[in-house]
Amino acid sequence: MNKLLSRAIPIVLVTAIVAIACVHEIPLPLTGGVTGPTGSTGTTGTTGGTGTTSCDTTTFNFSTVVNPLIQAKCAACHGAATAASSGASIDLSTYAKLLPYVTNGRLWGSINHSAGFSAMPKGGAQLSTCELTQVSKWIAGGAKNDTATFVVAPPPTCDTTKFLFSTTIAPLLKTNCITCHSAGNAQNGGIDLTLFAVVQAYANNGKLLGSIKHTAGYSAMPKGMAQLTACEITQFTKWIGAGAKNDTASVVVTPPPPTTPPPTPTSNCSPDTVYFQNTIAPLIAQTCSMAGCHDAITKASGVTLVTYANITRYVTAGNAAGSTLYTITKSGSMPRSPIAKYTTAQLTQVQTWINQGAKNNFCTSCDTTSTYSKGIAPLITTYCIGCHSATSAAASGGSIDLSTYTAVKVYATNGRLYGSVNHDLGYSAMPKNQAQLSACQIAQFKKWIDAGSPNN
Ligand code: HEC
Ligand code: HEC
Ligand code: HEC
Repeated sequence: MNKLLSRAIPIVLVTAIVAIACVHEIPLPLTGGVTGPTGSTGTTGTTGGTGTTSCDTTTFNFSTVVNPLIQAKCAACHGAATAASSGASIDLSTYAKLLPYVTNGRLWGSINHSAGFSAMPKGGAQLSTCELTQVSKWIAGGAKNDTATFVVAPPPTCDTTKFLFSTTIAPLLKTNCITCHSAGNAQNGGIDLTLFAVVQAYANNGKLLGSIKHTAGYSAMPKGMAQLTACEITQFTKWIGAGAKNDTASVVVTPPPPTTPPPTPTSNCSPDTVYFQNTIAPLIAQTCSMAGCHDAITKASGVTLVTYANITRYVTAGNAAGSTLYTITKSGSMPRSPIAKYTTAQLTQVQTWINQGAKNNFCTSCDTTSTYSKGIAPLITTYCIGCHSATSAAASGGSIDLSTYTAVKVYATNGRLYGSVNHDLGYSAMPKNQAQLSACQIAQFKKWIDAGSPNN
């Protein structure tokens, strides 16, 4: 749980400093010795911030306090059945689904009304000081699940091509083995797997693999629990096969931030060609196929514009003037407000692409430039701004405006920009309704954010 807190706290700290003008000022969820809030609703047992309901800041376990609170105040929008339609696809119905939002600081940021987070419960009164304190103390205490009813879900994906110690093996050990195999634990069988040297020794002597594969002659591990998945065992096997190396400087089981491949500077894009996947698809995703318009669910006027096949139904290759996609955007009747009409440059792109044969083509180009003006802002303009502009954000961008440096910096700083473009757990995958950005483009974001997101 230390890992969880050390990740959550910097985000919370930054945002809380910004949010000095907040309605409630609650102590931050810090590790150990959290002092209760000073003020009216402090430590009394039965009188609390919510008037008739009692609220006790000394009680804050998940099953009896935090979960009922969330079910009462949030499930209307963030329930298993309601999340898709009213909660921006954020499902908080189980402990496992809630936990990523604790870890990435967004649960706290949203209920504390910290800058850079949507204030929750949306449209309702902020939680009482006492309720906020309960959640804050629960987080500070390690956000534990004290009931057997809820089960922490396994990591959602298991990729056998990934087997670095820091990012794959150490987290697997932490989740499945360290509960017993740490110093001073009566169940450790004399083996401390928090020390890299020990892990390596057991990797090299065959016992690690023998025990997790349940090979005859070894004690089956994790003891008394379900065997690791085939994929996880493959990850161990490959890591050991590659020399059981420690790719991190320290021995700790906390993984470093995700590594991204370095940008590749090569480009095969012709300046005279307009490519479907590079230019037209992002444009249409942001101006036509958003939820509520020409997506596969709404199909406004019976028109779906999600895939190349959908889109080319409204195109006559080689003949822009005879193509509905071009004529309807040129006449200005589409896209509908609040999405802006196409600019002359965008109309020219659509026209050129159709006249060049309306191919499902793409090119690879990635600039290693990671300045705001030459790297980040152009990426946002191409892939995001249609939904995240000042005028469109409320309707199609989850109220997130990415049209200015100042606004982008807020999301860069609170981790959500990177979390969303890198498709991290606990973030909505962006750009929405489009393919994920290339590794090189994601690396551009990372490089710029790591440099402190300067306005350069
Ligand atoms: C009336 C519906 C509604 C209720 C009630 C509601 N939410 Fe939300 N929530 C949303 C929507 C919609 C979003 C997406 C962002 C937006 O539109 O502002 C969201 C976003 C969030 C986010 C992501 C916010 C961010 O900025 O990172 C969190 C976390 C969250 N809600 C938690 C909660 C919690 C906890 C409660 C209860 C205390 C709650 N919500 C109650 C509708 C709701
Ligand atoms: C519930 C406690 C518990 C858990 C969880 C657990 N172990 Fe063990 N492990 C033990 C004990 C106790 C022993 C000593 C042998 C025995 O009693 O079976 C042991 C022995 C071992 C051994 C030596 C096996 C041998 O054949 O001599 C290895 C290697 C090992 N564990 C690795 C792991 C790994 C890797 C995990 C996680 C995937 C894990 N253990 C999870 C309790 C546990
Ligand atoms: C088709 C419209 C659309 C496009 C294009 C789009 N977004 Fe979003 N974005 C949304 C919506 C809607 C939300 C609110 C959450 C949800 O519904 O998933 C959102 C949420 C976000 C969030 C908050 C996510 C989180 O979980 O914290 C960030 C950050 C974000 N977008 C950045 C981007 C970036 C960067 C791009 C371009 C690379 C982009 N978006 C492209 C519609 C879009």
